[in-house]
Amino acid sequence: MARRRQVYEGKAKILFEGPEPGTLVQYFKDDATAFNAQKKGTITGKGVLNNRISEYLMTRLNEIGVPNHFIRRLNMREQLIREVEIIPLEVVVRNVAAGSLSTRLGIQEGTRLPRSIIEFYYKNDQLGDPMVSEEHITCFGWASTQDIDDIVALTLRVNDFLSGLFLGVGITLVDFKLEFGRLWENEDMRIVLADEISPDNCRLWDAKTGEKMDKDRFRRDLGKVEEGYQEVARRLGILPEAGVRDMKGPETVQ
Ligand SMILES: Nc1ncnc2c1ncn2[C@@H]1O[C@H](COP(=O)(O)OP(=O)(O)OP(=O)(O)O)[C@@H](O)[C@H]1O
Ligand SMILES: [Mg+2]
Repeated sequence: MARRRQVYEGKAKILFEGPEPGTLVQYFKDDATAFNAQKKGTITGKGVLNNRISEYLMTRLNEIGVPNHFIRRLNMREQLIREVEIIPLEVVVRNVAAGSLSTRLGIQEGTRLPRSIIEFYYKNDQLGDPMVSEEHITCFGWASTQDIDDIVALTLRVNDFLSGLFLGVGITLVDFKLEFGRLWENEDMRIVLADEISPDNCRLWDAKTGEKMDKDRFRRDLGKVEEGYQEVARRLGILPEAGVRDMKGPETVQ
């Protein structure tokens, strides 16, 4: 494959220029970070699994009419996506108390919330992604009231659908983070789901035992991190055929 220009290197992914204008190639790394990159490590095979899991979930969401950036998977670690103008917000949905909600508000981890909660965080690593309200978002022009309405409507649909999908394979969708972007077609703009949906940004617990199958295994040094990610892929029926030995995938083409 021809050399491609790197557009951005993040903590978990690299973006390359795509084959056509308005497209990007998203390469999934094995690198893992937590606590605003204070903790760093690698999870062998994570990139391959997240590429598959995100492909699978974005495809299912597209089928139910949730517009998103995914076009197609290219290989073990790469997928072709539509380039969007990322809205600088992390949209977090919570169904069960865990993580910062539990620590900040003293709600015991594992408490089922009486209703799902949506929280917004300003995407800014230097500031540590602070939580913000709709007032901040509109005041500083990160998104309009209409944009927020669209984001909330899409987020609720994603939550309903994914909660059911995961429960069907014995997994509780505790919480997760979404990113959205603006997609321009001529003069028209629509908001679409972007980035990734994977055990890196979802809390996934075994519905019976409560065992964690997500990045908390890495954050909290619980061990068997890659096994957790693999188990999610296995239950979704998308574990790469060759199994664990094939997890490394091809080297990046740059
Ligand atoms: N369709 C898209 N078009 C443009 N940018 C995208 C798209 N999908 C995701 N991105 C951006 O690509 C980057 C993916 O890299 P990664 O997830 O590794 O970043 P990160 O280290 O988490 O950094 P950031 O704080 O910017 O999210 C993110 O900045 C994300 O917002
Ligand atoms: Mg990211």
